[in-house]
Amino acid sequence: MLRTHTNNELRKDHIDQTVTLTGWVNNRRDHGGIIFVDLRDSYGITQIVFDPTHGSDAHARAERVRSEWVIQVTGTVRHRGDELENPRLDTGQIELIVSEIEILNEAKTPPFEVDHDSDIREDLRLEYRYLDLRKPRMQKNLKLRHQMTKTIRDYFDTHEFLEVETPIMVKGTPEGSREYLVPSRLHRGEFYVLPQSPQQLKQLLINGGVDKYFQVARCFRDEDLRGDRQPEFTQFEIEMAFVDQEDIMETIEGCFHDLTDKCAGQKEWKKFLDNGKFKRISWDEAMSLYGSDKPDIRFGLEFTDLTEEKSGCGFGVFEGCERLFAMAVPDGTKLSRKDIDKMTKLAQKHGAGGLAWVRVGEDSGPVMKNSNPEFIQTLVEKTKANEGDLIFFGAGTFLQATEPLGQVRLAVGDKFELRNQDEFAYLWVVDFPMFEKKEDGTIQAAHHPFTMPKKEDLERLKSDPMSVNAYAYDIVLNGVELGGGSVRIHDPVLQKEIFEVFGMSDEEIENKFGHLIKAFQYGCPPHGGCAMGLDRVVMLFADEPNIREVIAFPKNQSAQDLLLGSPSPMPEKELNEQNIQVLPEEEE
Ligand code: AMO
Ligand code: AMP
Repeated sequence: MLRTHTNNELRKDHIDQTVTLTGWVNNRRDHGGIIFVDLRDSYGITQIVFDPTHGSDAHARAERVRSEWVIQVTGTVRHRGDELENPRLDTGQIELIVSEIEILNEAKTPPFEVDHDSDIREDLRLEYRYLDLRKPRMQKNLKLRHQMTKTIRDYFDTHEFLEVETPIMVKGTPEGSREYLVPSRLHRGEFYVLPQSPQQLKQLLINGGVDKYFQVARCFRDEDLRGDRQPEFTQFEIEMAFVDQEDIMETIEGCFHDLTDKCAGQKEWKKFLDNGKFKRISWDEAMSLYGSDKPDIRFGLEFTDLTEEKSGCGFGVFEGCERLFAMAVPDGTKLSRKDIDKMTKLAQKHGAGGLAWVRVGEDSGPVMKNSNPEFIQTLVEKTKANEGDLIFFGAGTFLQATEPLGQVRLAVGDKFELRNQDEFAYLWVVDFPMFEKKEDGTIQAAHHPFTMPKKEDLERLKSDPMSVNAYAYDIVLNGVELGGGSVRIHDPVLQKEIFEVFGMSDEEIENKFGHLIKAFQYGCPPHGGCAMGLDRVVMLFADEPNIREVIAFPKNQSAQDLLLGSPSPMPEKELNEQNIQVLPEEEE
């Protein structure tokens, strides 16, 4: 090694020892002839001192050094003096008085300061990611991610899971998202795709006799990006043979117990457990109480279903709608008309016709003016609202009435600071519907098409598919979907019937999923599994606002890698080899 110690190692015990340190110049202060440098490496910071009376040659060379230069120094450890100790540094009691310096590399003036966390444009951070990664915050995130991945691997290893790698170039088999294509040079006009997840391959591994499969797997999805989505991301994911839903959920829960114990620091999480286990609610309950399939249960503000009570209430909007839900906000007087307008816009953005409201005890607003007093009385009783509380309403179909109100609930939670940063509230959401309707009215799988419908609902698969629930479950933490899974179909006939519900022809089924149906015909055992987004899990453990902060080299919000400069145009020769012709953009 070019050093004898790291920059987080020297303490009072080392005083008078001669040591050699290496690192980056975090900052440099010239105090009338004496130069102080904070020397940084990935472990921490040590203050080093250049004093002409101790080493005039070293001092002269230190006059040249600037931020982010890489240096090696040899000197003697000395006490800083009681009043000069720096309690914010682990090495704050000592400093190194330097006798020799070697400049290992110079650095251009960085485009932003590495030594403190100011607000820097993210695109600039990503273009110079190697400088950004030097920051203690990013070093900490990289270390946490490593520690969490190791904890996960150890857990599944202890439980006899086999880590198996699955291919990155696979067949285009739509599961829900748009896929990235890879052209084949050898097979003109044909393509591989990058996997959205190893879903089908892990099922085929179970068919191949693996009892418990596990992988830390890269996944690729060409979808609209958000804070918790990247075009390429990492899942830790499992598949198990001869299991039911309970076995899989128990396994995943055990992994999160280990992770939270070992890697979540001081987070309060046990108070949200139910007899030592994660709470569970059905999808229907989650939507009816919180207007979300990934509810943040760190706070209440639960909805009340007023569908039965609304008939004859006198208010046209409510009488004409299918379902009605109400959410009472205690201390509603703290919400101004301006706040209510903002919440209304939010609800409308999420598909509501509007956001009706009443203030308990006040005779204002269209609901109060148009409803009969009995309805208002029932409303106040059922929502247990008090004088001054504000009650918001969601009216429409089940999803129209609940989802926008769920967004308002989160906004109120933020405004009243009900989302405690020091708490971790895990939750299982179970019994998801098997299908959902796309905007064009066609049916698609809510989770994915390999999910097993509930036994008791199977008879309605053809007659009333939208009423069929599935053995599907999501694990949620503080309102973020960490992962999801399901019991899978292993019967070739049932698997084909599911594709038929989507309106797929025999030919289409054969082209897209023939390999899977064929495999199920050769003795595939009952099986199921689950996949967690590693980036999201680390993001929450690291208290970061988005997953880019816990990925070493993420893409930006436009799916670009600004460091390497990708995507980028390809030379004509390479395109020709791949039989690709890029057409000019069509004029609008
Ligand atoms: P699903 O599509 O729900 O399930 O994905 C599982 C988890 O992966 C994470 N995730 C993402 N993270 C970052 N960026 C993205 N674009 C992104 N998309 C998904 C989420 C999500 O909960 N094969 C099934 C799992 C199974 O059934 O076993 C699957 O992939 O945290
Ligand atoms: P309007 O009759 O359109 O003036 O609406 C009266 C009140 O009901 C307004 O406060 C609207 O925001 C609200 N409102 C309208 N449609 C809905 C809906 N689908 N859900 C909840 N509130 C609504």
